[in-house]
Amino acid sequence: MEINGKTRTCGLIGYPVEHTLSPVIHNTLAGVMGHDLVYVPFGVEPGALQDAVRGAYALQVLGLNVTVPYKSEVIGCLQDMDALARRIGAVNTLVRTEGGFKGYNTDMEGLYRAMISERIKIAGEQIILLGAGGAARAVAHLCALKGAGKIYLLNRTLDKAEQVAEEVDHAAGRKLICPMRLAEYHEIPEGKYLAIQGTSVGLAPHDDEVILSDKAFYEKIHTGFDLIYNPWETRFMRLVKASGGKAYNGLKMLLYQGIIAYELWNDVSVPEETAQIIYRKLMTHFVQGQRDAEERS
Ligand code: ATR
Repeated sequence: MEINGKTRTCGLIGYPVEHTLSPVIHNTLAGVMGHDLVYVPFGVEPGALQDAVRGAYALQVLGLNVTVPYKSEVIGCLQDMDALARRIGAVNTLVRTEGGFKGYNTDMEGLYRAMISERIKIAGEQIILLGAGGAARAVAHLCALKGAGKIYLLNRTLDKAEQVAEEVDHAAGRKLICPMRLAEYHEIPEGKYLAIQGTSVGLAPHDDEVILSDKAFYEKIHTGFDLIYNPWETRFMRLVKASGGKAYNGLKMLLYQGIIAYELWNDVSVPEETAQIIYRKLMTHFVQGQRDAEERS
């Protein structure tokens, strides 16, 4: 594309940002949608977040994504916040408004849209959620908001699971979450569950690690959704499939969180066919990135 005096800028702030796939999403979207827009990753060193956000606003930046480690800290730099982001306490998207940026959380809406595209239901479902860190906590809020039946929240550290349960139940106004130690998985009642893997266990290069390996656990799962997409198929996913369940990785969540951010920045709706074009491009880049890494090692 040709950059000219009218080209709008969007970007990503985080640290580090070298391996991000977000430029593929947004620059391809801009091309397909015919928008004069570029998307650039900006590495923001610790301590420089406030200056970075203020500077981006002064530079007429249209919107920003926010990634690790700034999803909570950025809240202090905002003019306004969307209700879902406020409830979750994490922001991954900034939208330019009069006088400052407004914060949103498109990670969770992205996960929800990814699930819809795979025909995975949350409303009324019995759910097993693995983890109680930042990502799993947000998923617990999403499940509560979308009408989940009951959530068994398993975490290595029980304290953290209890804290998340209390916070989410309070926000939802109903008793929804049953916090448990990981090792207590056999106490989950018989039945078939949607399981969401929200820990960092199994993330490359630790491809062979998995949060639980007992076959009896996987027999309770009809669908497994891992928030991880690198490796493409985690050991968690393989174990779900080996016990007859369906398994999905987190790449579609990445895709849709980007698409929702793009829709907010440009006040448009991205058609599903376009989403599929971007998804294919994302997969190509992901596979190429893996090949390059293999060649280097
Ligand atoms: P994120 O923001 O990606 O959620 P996080 O907040 O650091 O990252 O949370 C990591 C999650 O993975 C936590 O649920 C953590 O369990 P603890 O709360 O007990 O720390 C879980 N986790 C990480 N490494 C683990 C391991 N080796 N075994 C079990 N759980 C692990």
